Amino acid sequence: MRKNRILIPIEDLYPGLVVAEPFFDSNGVVVIGEGIILNSKIISKLNEKYPAKSMSVLDEYLDEIFMSKENKKQKIIDAEIKLSNVSNGIKSIMNDIERKKRPSIKLVTGMSVQLMESFKDYNLALEGILRERPVDEYTQRHCVNVAILSIMLGRWLFLSDNEILLLAQSALLHDIGKVKINSNILNKPSKLSPIEFEAIKKHSIIGYSIAKEIPNIDTCVPLGILMHHEKIDGSGYPLGLSNDKIHIFGKIIAIADIFDAMTSTRPYHSRQSPFSVLEMMQHEFWGKIDTFCLSTFVKNMSMYYEGEIVRLSNGKLGQIVKMNPSRLSAPLVMVGEDFIDLSVENYITVSELVSFPIDT
Ligand SMILES: [Fe+2]
Repeated sequence: MRKNRILIPIEDLYPGLVVAEPFFDSNGVVVIGEGIILNSKIISKLNEKYPAKSMSVLDEYLDEIFMSKENKKQKIIDAEIKLSNVSNGIKSIMNDIERKKRPSIKLVTGMSVQLMESFKDYNLALEGILRERPVDEYTQRHCVNVAILSIMLGRWLFLSDNEILLLAQSALLHDIGKVKINSNILNKPSKLSPIEFEAIKKHSIIGYSIAKEIPNIDTCVPLGILMHHEKIDGSGYPLGLSNDKIHIFGKIIAIADIFDAMTSTRPYHSRQSPFSVLEMMQHEFWGKIDTFCLSTFVKNMSMYYEGEIVRLSNGKLGQIVKMNPSRLSAPLVMVGEDFIDLSVENYITVSELVSFPIDT
């Protein structure tokens, strides 16, 4: 939690202060999100519209709040080391399975605890997840990313720590069945034939069979693996289960899986921005993925992007002031002293997230 937040009357605000908590208008609508750096233009608008109100701000300077570039770079490097350690753990589990050796639950639990402890800072976690990675490391890194995203969603859904630990195990192992699928099919750059697609679909049931043989594994861990491609309308696989028959772990992992796959470069598609993926999930998976889990994910993920620095399609850098709940790919962005509402200026789009603040 950030410290030293103070309530300041709007008329006393000055440029450089950082918004500590979302600022609401009288209708309860967020006007400015947490983490936004106030400039003279925002302050004069606030004075114009809300002269009698006060705002919660951080009374520290920018570099103390956002960390210096070097400090943040170091945190990203540390996070990257942890991600690649867990990723190597997944690789060794996959090698064990190929050699018909049972994976160790101790190793899976250790990796799960490490992820739960290391990525409590969700901004840092998301930066690690969205980082481009070598295509040949995709499967193991995808498992790690899905585990981190599942832990985040599990926390937003108020699962207990023990449930989250088991969820993380299930998410880390969700695609282990792919070890037994022909890699030419897995990495095929073009559309799969119906036979090839049927072969890939076997990975969840294969993964389930492998996981349930791991000594001392909790029964819900293999269930999450088995059900991570089920859909609540019964159109998923392998069992075509409907909503109430799908284990909560399967529902959570499905969401994390889609988000990570769509924001990654794959042989058959290029990566998409998290904003357009969240918007696509909100529309295309409505009625297919558990509604409450999906809306909880989209709402919380979009909040984490307020205050982030982005590059726009016109080449300019800007800061997201406010996400637009009905058009997540078109937030309100501050560029210099100007505000650009991308839902109005719809010829400009967000090209990418910039990892750390850049001096412009
Ligand atoms: Fe899968």
